[in-house]
Amino acid sequence: MALLKSRLLVGVARCQPCLAVVQGRASSWWSHVEMGPPDPILGVTEAFKRDTNPKKMNLGVGAYRDDNGKPYVLSSVRKAEAQLASKNLDKEYLPIGGLAEFARASAQLALGENCEAVKNGQFITVQTISGTGSLRIGANFLQRFYKYSRDVYLPKPSWGNHTPIFRDAGLEVKGYRYYDPKTCGFDFAGALDDLSKIPEQSIILFHACAHNPTGVDPKQEQWKELAALCKSRRLFPFFDMAYQGFASGDTDRDAWAVRHFIQEGINLVLSQSYAKNMGLYGERVGAFTVVCSDAEEAKRVESQIKILIRPMYSNPPLNGARIAASILTQPDLRKEWLQEVKGMANRIISMREQLVSNLKKEGSIHNWQHISDQIGMFCFTGLRPEQVERLIKEFSIYMTKDGRISVAGVTSANNGYLAHAIHQVTK
Ligand SMILES: Cc1ncc(COP(=O)(O)O)c(C=O)c1O
Repeated sequence: MALLKSRLLVGVARCQPCLAVVQGRASSWWSHVEMGPPDPILGVTEAFKRDTNPKKMNLGVGAYRDDNGKPYVLSSVRKAEAQLASKNLDKEYLPIGGLAEFARASAQLALGENCEAVKNGQFITVQTISGTGSLRIGANFLQRFYKYSRDVYLPKPSWGNHTPIFRDAGLEVKGYRYYDPKTCGFDFAGALDDLSKIPEQSIILFHACAHNPTGVDPKQEQWKELAALCKSRRLFPFFDMAYQGFASGDTDRDAWAVRHFIQEGINLVLSQSYAKNMGLYGERVGAFTVVCSDAEEAKRVESQIKILIRPMYSNPPLNGARIAASILTQPDLRKEWLQEVKGMANRIISMREQLVSNLKKEGSIHNWQHISDQIGMFCFTGLRPEQVERLIKEFSIYMTKDGRISVAGVTSANNGYLAHAIHQVTK
């Protein structure tokens, strides 16, 4: 049929050139391209926008909202922006690896002021296009230079974009047990069991804190055992830290696992994002770090990362990195920012506690303890797909089908309504 159609169009082209150009263009190069499925999270937002119920709630999207349900621009960010505007800076290109001042401050924030690897120059950090861009640079770097394995093991489940990022970079994506639906908590025994059986030197992805989508993090004692296992089995850790400060409200505490692995002498790679903890979502500020054996190795690694970046996007954007660098390097702005991060984390923690208490008030007899035990922006409620369906249809409360809610989208005003709706679909 497609062939017949294109032949007909060729026929038309001979007698009516102008029309043929239009029709010929519409006819053919991409006829084999099938419609792809919509992004699951953006699909939730689209459905939410169409809903006219004044009580509607969007708990799908992973962006922080204030207690009025509005997007939140941090005051430290506004101040940094005002300072930058007053300086009338130029708009020249950044180097391939980005703003050096930002990269260094970012590594220090993650690895700590006293990190030996930082002091000895045993690391390389480049500015990236937020966390996603960092993960992709990391994945491509491993694909090109990690010669010991093609396999990346992700926690089950993991952030939805991890699989396509690593797969599109040419690595083989596999999984290890992580979430236990029976306890709505961490399946520590399952994770240890799986990681002790996978081939040595495999790549293993860890969420540094505030695991997305489950909100379930290993405890420090458990991290210690995971680090020991990585060391003894020579597994290669890739840490994704998209929520530093968002879990506990304390950026040092949230970086504990990364720092512990490094102290244990494990040379890892790390992705950072400033989307959530500085609210710089659309500015696309992130960093990618490789901890190396010595400064000379770091130089060689850096040279190859630049060679990877150059044909992809040449060099990263300027504005967000300037904002983040101003905040990280000026003591007064940094102090204010750390307080704001704490404020965001505390609001989320308090929404979790209120939700558990409101569910009790509604008369729910289920155990909702996991809602307050889990940490960070997301909560894996344990709701089944048919219950989620009812929440959407009967209460206009939108979330992904796996029952994940973004707690950052709940407010003091609608917490009770959410508890009421959850109780109705679970009693
Ligand atoms: C686990 C995880 N990693 C990375 C990212 C990257 O986000 P961005 O590219 O917006 O920094 C996210 C964002 O939701 C995430 O949840």
